[in-house]
Amino acid sequence: MKFTLFIFLLLHVYASLRASIVNPEAYMNFIEYCQFLRYPVTPYWVTTPDGYILNLFRIGKKHSKTFNKGTPIFMQHGLVDSSDDWIINDEDLAPGFILVNLGYDIWFGNTRGNHHSRNHTTLNPNTDPLFWNYTWNEMAEYDIPTEINFVLNFTGYQKLVYIGHSQGTTIIMAHLIEHPEFASKLAVSILLAPIATVMHQTSKVLADANHPEFFDLMAMFGIDEVFKKDSLIMPWVCEYLNLVCKDVVDMIADSDGNVDNNERLDVIMGHYPSSDSLKNIKMWSQMALYKEPRMQKFDYEDPIKNYEIYGSAKPPVYNLTSLTSNFGLFGGEYDRLGDQVDVQWLKSQIVNANIMWYKDDYPLGHGTFMWFKNSTWFNDVISLIKKVV
Ligand SMILES: *[C@@H]1O[C@H](CO)[C@@H](O)[C@H](O)[C@H]1NC(C)=O
Ligand SMILES: *[C@@H]1O[C@H](CO)[C@@H](O)[C@H](O)[C@H]1NC(C)=O
Ligand SMILES: *[C@@H]1O[C@H](CO)[C@@H](O)[C@H](O)[C@H]1NC(C)=O
Ligand SMILES: *[C@@H]1O[C@H](CO)[C@@H](O)[C@H](O)[C@H]1NC(C)=O
Ligand SMILES: *[C@@H]1O[C@H](CO)[C@@H](O)[C@H](O)[C@H]1NC(C)=O
Repeated sequence: MKFTLFIFLLLHVYASLRASIVNPEAYMNFIEYCQFLRYPVTPYWVTTPDGYILNLFRIGKKHSKTFNKGTPIFMQHGLVDSSDDWIINDEDLAPGFILVNLGYDIWFGNTRGNHHSRNHTTLNPNTDPLFWNYTWNEMAEYDIPTEINFVLNFTGYQKLVYIGHSQGTTIIMAHLIEHPEFASKLAVSILLAPIATVMHQTSKVLADANHPEFFDLMAMFGIDEVFKKDSLIMPWVCEYLNLVCKDVVDMIADSDGNVDNNERLDVIMGHYPSSDSLKNIKMWSQMALYKEPRMQKFDYEDPIKNYEIYGSAKPPVYNLTSLTSNFGLFGGEYDRLGDQVDVQWLKSQIVNANIMWYKDDYPLGHGTFMWFKNSTWFNDVISLIKKVV
């Protein structure tokens, strides 16, 4: 009896501590958070040709009742991430809020499997392993056109401005390479922390995932999904152990964690990371192991299986030289995933593209592109948008 009482009291203390100390914004979902800050928001759902039901959000200016008009801007998050990261930094520092308050019509994509897009017409993400049978190759092939075509059709525009972060840059390039006609729908593709190859990456997380035993172990336990949302614990941990979270961010992607908005980490960790397929993580760890820089499809690590799926013993390579549309490239000096050497290699490959902006040494890490505390660099993004719309 005494013990039960003790546990009860402990839980009570835990609950009140959590309620009083942790910023409640950590626990708000995308819609609740927009409403809390008085931004109009509408969710939309689209279905890809292979059955994934994806969630899109559109937001309007603060205190407005309607949505902005004009050329839409489509913002595509990166690896194990979601639409949330474009708005979750302090309000005056969040890229999505900055752009919408400047009067642009802002839309956010959510790729298959993340916590907003965990749904399918026939597969159940909780019980069907086949739901998780995908990598960014399928996001490039299906998610990109399904979402962008919806936005263009909905708004009646012929073109939009694409802003991608990390994997969000990889999938737009991959789609354009396989479907060059898609270029007519993009005024410019703005690539933040651009990634075609991660050969020079130094993130400890990708390095750790490089061990084949890791994937064997996951397979043994029947785990197909990684980073399933557990938002009740992460922010609380970050609130108390700010240093620990800073180290995590540092380890994943930013070699100088001091450029991140660390005071916001409790809220950020309530929204990041988001779920993804183990197969996609495997793909990224394969990419980190390439002996030469290249951008290619998932390797089944078996020539016969590759042949069955691709018609060749080796996975097909994406031909970056065939890219011809407008691009802006924004690379960070402290980025462990989108290393400067790899960004320079990408630039050297896209010789037929129209590079409207290039700078690879912003004082930013990989996550800093979303979690910055100094917004000066973002003025270059705004200037580039103003050039095309
Ligand atoms: C998944 O999609 C189906 C079909 O559109 C819908 O009935 C169901 O409510 C969705 N489930 C979730 C969790 O959104
Ligand atoms: C998984 O996806 C790949 C690529 O689309 C496909 O070739 C393969 O047949 C799928 N696996 C299963 C078990 O359906
Ligand atoms: C395009 O928009 C029209 C009207 O807004 C709608 O009826 C139609 O279903 C849309 N098509 C697609 C592919 O979304
Ligand atoms: C890649 O694209 C360029 C430009 O379109 C072309 O000249 C070249 O032959 C292609 N390379 C391969 C390997 O297909
Ligand atoms: C913000 O960044 C700009 C450009 O990188 C730099 O010139 C400026 O000193 C920075 N401001 C602060 C307060 O650190």
